Amino acid sequence: MLDSFQSGDFLSVLKSYGVYGIVGAIVVGILVPILFKGSKRGKQRGVPVNVGGEAGYAVRNARVTELIDVPWKGATTMAALFELSCKKHSRNRFLGTRKLIEKEFVTASDGRKYEKLHLGDYEWQTYGEVFNRASNFASGLVKLGHDVDTRAAIFSETRAEWLIAFQGCFRQNITVVTVYASLGEDALIHSLNETSATTLICDSKQLKKLAAISTSLKTIQNVICFEDDESSKDTGLSESLSNLTVASFSEVERLGKTSPVPANLPSKNGIAVIMYTSGSTGLPKGVMVTHGNIVATAAAVMTVIPGIDSKDVYLAYLPLAHVFELAAESVMLTAGCRIGYSSPLTFTDTSNKIKKGTKGDASVLKPTLMAAVPAILDRVRDGVLKKVEDTGGLVKTLFDVGYKRRLAAVEGSWFGAWGLEKMLWDFVVFKKIRALLGGHIRFMLCGGAPLSGNSQHFINICMGAPIGQGYGLTETFAGAAFSEADDTMVGRVGPPLPCCYIKLVSWEEGGYLTSDKPMPRGEIVVGGHSVTAGYFNNQEKTNEVYKVDEMGMRWFYSGDIGRFHPDGCLEIIDRKKDIVKLQHGEYISLGKVESALMSSNYVDNVMLHADPFHSYCVALVVPVHQALEKWAKEAGIEFQDLSDLCEKAEAVNEVQQSLSKVGKASKLDKFELPSKIKLLAEPWTPESGLVTAALKIKREQIKAKFKTELTKFFGLILSSWLVGWMILVSMVDVSELSATSRSVPVRKRSSVALT
Ligand SMILES: *[C@@H]1O[C@H](CO)[C@@H](O)[C@H](O)[C@H]1NC(C)=O
Ligand SMILES: *[C@@H]1O[C@H](CO)[C@@H](O)[C@H](O)[C@H]1NC(C)=O
Ligand SMILES: *[C@@H]1O[C@H](CO)[C@@H](O)[C@H](O)[C@H]1NC(C)=O
Repeated sequence: MLDSFQSGDFLSVLKSYGVYGIVGAIVVGILVPILFKGSKRGKQRGVPVNVGGEAGYAVRNARVTELIDVPWKGATTMAALFELSCKKHSRNRFLGTRKLIEKEFVTASDGRKYEKLHLGDYEWQTYGEVFNRASNFASGLVKLGHDVDTRAAIFSETRAEWLIAFQGCFRQNITVVTVYASLGEDALIHSLNETSATTLICDSKQLKKLAAISTSLKTIQNVICFEDDESSKDTGLSESLSNLTVASFSEVERLGKTSPVPANLPSKNGIAVIMYTSGSTGLPKGVMVTHGNIVATAAAVMTVIPGIDSKDVYLAYLPLAHVFELAAESVMLTAGCRIGYSSPLTFTDTSNKIKKGTKGDASVLKPTLMAAVPAILDRVRDGVLKKVEDTGGLVKTLFDVGYKRRLAAVEGSWFGAWGLEKMLWDFVVFKKIRALLGGHIRFMLCGGAPLSGNSQHFINICMGAPIGQGYGLTETFAGAAFSEADDTMVGRVGPPLPCCYIKLVSWEEGGYLTSDKPMPRGEIVVGGHSVTAGYFNNQEKTNEVYKVDEMGMRWFYSGDIGRFHPDGCLEIIDRKKDIVKLQHGEYISLGKVESALMSSNYVDNVMLHADPFHSYCVALVVPVHQALEKWAKEAGIEFQDLSDLCEKAEAVNEVQQSLSKVGKASKLDKFELPSKIKLLAEPWTPESGLVTAALKIKREQIKAKFKTELTKFFGLILSSWLVGWMILVSMVDVSELSATSRSVPVRKRSSVALT
């Protein structure tokens, strides 16, 4: 994903328009402020509401008085929604996939072979055709011998057949288990075993992985495999899966077509999906999502994408096993849009798998809507900035001026955000950047993690499209809060979606209270139609974080800390479980510090580590290769390769100084800055299991992998007397905890404990 955005030769165009641009901009820049005024300040987006359950500060969307639960009458389940939408749009194009023209392998200078694809146009299936395929698949599944009272699992990368199989299962009231394609083997075995899934639907890449673990898959009887373009069936593979029936997806469709089985549609409260979330600790948890949850989120998100209709084209490339993508595609289905399938490796003209000189998916599809996670948008920003910086000269000057002017405008200076000047800058500077994503993006959905203000502005300006930042969890089927298209303030996730209420509940221990000024703060609790049924096979954990109030409304306790702005928009400010108390009693919020440190140019990824046994924190840092190597060359430091460089004291020192600098700029306290760091040459990827599919770091896994490094940091070998002493100290602290809030000077207290 990294490289795919780093190109685009908009620079030559910049140069040719440059001179007119500067003159024009100056003239327009003077005129426009006089001609255009107006701003959207003061709009009330969320309003306080009285609700049941635990006391707190609750807010609802300002546009609805009653929560909405369906996109339209009758669409109470995913199966009904699918059928109605397919009837309504039956002749419209729905799912598109690019045809493979040619595949070749090139050998890079390091001797590794890379697959390069030459892909053709998108080939489309209409809503009507997709409906027939899903119905056939449903019948075929039954004919194949799938027992409809058991579950089917989908384990595949994002593609059209994923959605068809998903809808097919619902037509026979079969619950679908979803598993991330990048999840480890143990997690896969665990989720299939725990849900006793009997049919596994996968792509050929995942099928290859199955051979190694097939003996551990006790419950699976049938395997259905999506075909690839080249469709070479691996015979050796089927042998190693000898106890299982392996059928191709099209065989199952044919089977169903020749002997149809009447549909058996699910009900609103039936479990549609058991979605395994990678979670940041231990084995994944299966979240039970009802049909009602999905249609409620889809109905709610429909209302926040301005003018969404069947003319819209959506580029799909995030994992469908992630709630954010599944929710987004459900919205597209509801609105009758087209969905064109893509992947992170074929996304743009310069993506890794795209053959040189041929077009990437975005250029061919020209999407109007897309979804992204912050990590991707951060990389788009870094890629474009690097390109501009490397080119320098007039291009850089123009970009800088243009960006500053636009930034002032979107930040809501008094001369309004839209107008002639915008058109001019768009034409001169930003048009070519937009071409990277096909040039037609009109709205972006962003979710999965908080997006930095910088990136939000950057994408906003460079792509010329508003970003709707969503907040939601698998447990709320992605539906909780969503920022509105005309809201240009950064760092917030908007008001509650119209399908749910959001309540802040005071967290005394952490020092976040709903009585706080100037804004109420507390743990974010979501209640309403998008709140899921709980964790599969884990009543204890379910009871811990889900509660039903006296009026029958389900609430989910997110563990995230937020505050409500006066206009009813939510801002995520912290996370409960990421807060660690240091030895001297200071609280440190790992997530908050990490996101501050991420703004250093040297940091590709970072994990902060702290424990109650030390007074300082440490960090594992994956550096940005180019930045660090560039610095080393300039500083005259000799090194063989990146791993070598990462070991050099000078490099560590340089990165650490940069961390201190950005830390201070973000007003971090001294104890929040890592006092020791370790540079790691290998990037953290979902495949390595160190980050989730949404690229959030997995603390436990990283800690386990770099255990030696982390122990070295702390130097001491914990002799038994020391451990005993620490337990004593922490016991004293815990007993005082409830009486003490975060803001009380803690040093005093801890010095008592320590002396
Ligand atoms: C599979 O699940 C059963 C209980 O349902 C459990 O006893 C068994 O240990 C599990 N096996 C694996 C490999 O997880
Ligand atoms: C095949 O199934 C039989 C009986 O269900 C079992 O004993 C045998 O171990 C299985 N073989 C493999 C390779 O899983
Ligand atoms: C659908 O399946 C569930 C169990 O998974 C069952 O409780 C429910 O009654 C079924 N609904 C219909 C309409 O058959």
